[in-house]
Amino acid sequence: MLDQYGRSISYLRLSITPRCNLNCIYCRPGHCPAGYDPFAQTRILTVAEIDRLVRVLAELGINKVRLTGGEPLLRPDLEKIIRQIRRHPEITDLSLTTNGQDLAERAAALKEAGLMRVNISLDSLRADRFEKITGNGSLERALAGIDASLAVGLHPVKLNTVLMRGVNDDELEQLFDLTRAKPLALRLIELMPMNQTATASDQLVTGTEILQRYPQLERVPDSYPGQPAEDYHLPGYLGTIGLIRPISQRFCHVCNRVRITADGKVKGCLGQDDEYDLLPWLDQPDDTLLTQALAAAIRAKPPRHQFEAHQVPIRSMDRTGG
Ligand code: 5AD
Repeated sequence: MLDQYGRSISYLRLSITPRCNLNCIYCRPGHCPAGYDPFAQTRILTVAEIDRLVRVLAELGINKVRLTGGEPLLRPDLEKIIRQIRRHPEITDLSLTTNGQDLAERAAALKEAGLMRVNISLDSLRADRFEKITGNGSLERALAGIDASLAVGLHPVKLNTVLMRGVNDDELEQLFDLTRAKPLALRLIELMPMNQTATASDQLVTGTEILQRYPQLERVPDSYPGQPAEDYHLPGYLGTIGLIRPISQRFCHVCNRVRITADGKVKGCLGQDDEYDLLPWLDQPDDTLLTQALAAAIRAKPPRHQFEAHQVPIRSMDRTGG
């Protein structure tokens, strides 16, 4: 369906858990004491609720779903969720964003359940730095997850790198090298001010700067119209290098997404605080009011994010879903 600005909304980003086994510096609001579960009191969408939301949204024109978190692999019923979503013939694209820590063991089962493709976070190729950026993540496990995804055919395998000046921006060439012999789609994402760490604009490395530093990057055609990434490649390399520039080159005018958080709120924009609670409508067996609430939220999608105002959204990335 169209929103009030005429954008066609066809893509659902669905967070299935706010919990994460990592603690990435640009994502989480802060470190929690060991053993403390900040979401202990949070009601998280059930498989049946997820299925119902996808069915209603498919009727409203959603045809693409990405599962996110938190870390979606932390849900033991993930394969079941995938299977349920694939039963809706309107959904022609189903993908997952993950930190990849537990992916090597699960890639085959996810593929078998009907997952089509994955995006894996990869912010450094140095084990010690990877661990620092992610809290306690293992580079080795992330790389094993990438290889397992390629092996089982979760194609295309996309890698998300959030570039931060002075943190990992000296690794661009090594990251580019990943695309030399493997059909990987590396994507360099501009740092969005989603928490206190990420507000410092002097950490932002823009796509323009990357293009200036690497004039050998050649533009390649977009794989689909309106995609946020501008794709490039290095001559002779198998994979692609995408620039995602939400800050220096906003793509709000072609944004086709709506988000649902794991605690049942619908959000039109990552960089705005507007959200609508779906739980009262999910508690009613009839779909009429739920459909109306979702349609109203889509219609009211904000025209643009406000990251440039350096206002950190109330919800950090882990609570919204990437
Ligand atoms: N800025 C840019 N990208 C971010 N991500 C998470 N937080 C931020 C941020 N502050 C991206 C990461 C991750 C995905 C879920 O969202 O690349 O892979």
